[in-house]
Amino acid sequence: MTPVSQRRPLYQPIELLIDEDKIQRRVKELGLQITRDYAGREPVIVGVLKGCTVFLADLIRNINLPVEVEFISAASYRKGARQDKNIEITDAMTIDLHGRDLLIVEGIVETGRTVSRIAQRLKQLEPASMEIVTLLDKPSAHRPKIELKYKGFKLGNEFVVGYGLDNTQKYRNLPYIGRVSESR
Ligand code: IMP
Ligand code: MG
Repeated sequence: MTPVSQRRPLYQPIELLIDEDKIQRRVKELGLQITRDYAGREPVIVGVLKGCTVFLADLIRNINLPVEVEFISAASYRKGARQDKNIEITDAMTIDLHGRDLLIVEGIVETGRTVSRIAQRLKQLEPASMEIVTLLDKPSAHRPKIELKYKGFKLGNEFVVGYGLDNTQKYRNLPYIGRVSESR
């Protein structure tokens, strides 16, 4: 078997945007903030698959509360026009969310439509409270403006990958946030 270092790179080059240390420091801060805000409570962390995975794994280890974890799945398909996306939501939830404090955890919010649709659906289950946590936010792309209580980093309108986020399902395993470079 060829050692990993000698294999031909499988990926296009990635331009580093937010390094691992910076992400880890920010995730710690968010965990601390949530720990303080929810002191004495037992929130349910509802992860939005698949982009939430890496962030959620790190975030929950920085929350010092008896949290429970649930997942909901959102897939969006572009239908041509830039912000014209088809959003498909599926879930296989096992925790009764009625009367619970929910923290929706997303990897990235762009127009805000995905997370709004999920919030709408979860609201029907009559939770006691519901807030959104996102690692990355593109505030200038929100349509309409959406309130996010916990945000890791703000971005402009650029497409990023890594730390759970994909480009056609790849790059989720990068430990940092980057941009796919145009040139090689
Ligand atoms: P929204 O519904 O427009 O907020 O889009 C949110 C979804 O689009 C996210 O859950 C991601 O799946 C995807 N997305 C938006 N921007 C990016 C990006 O820069 N990189 C990777 N995925 C993104
Ligand atoms: Mg995606």
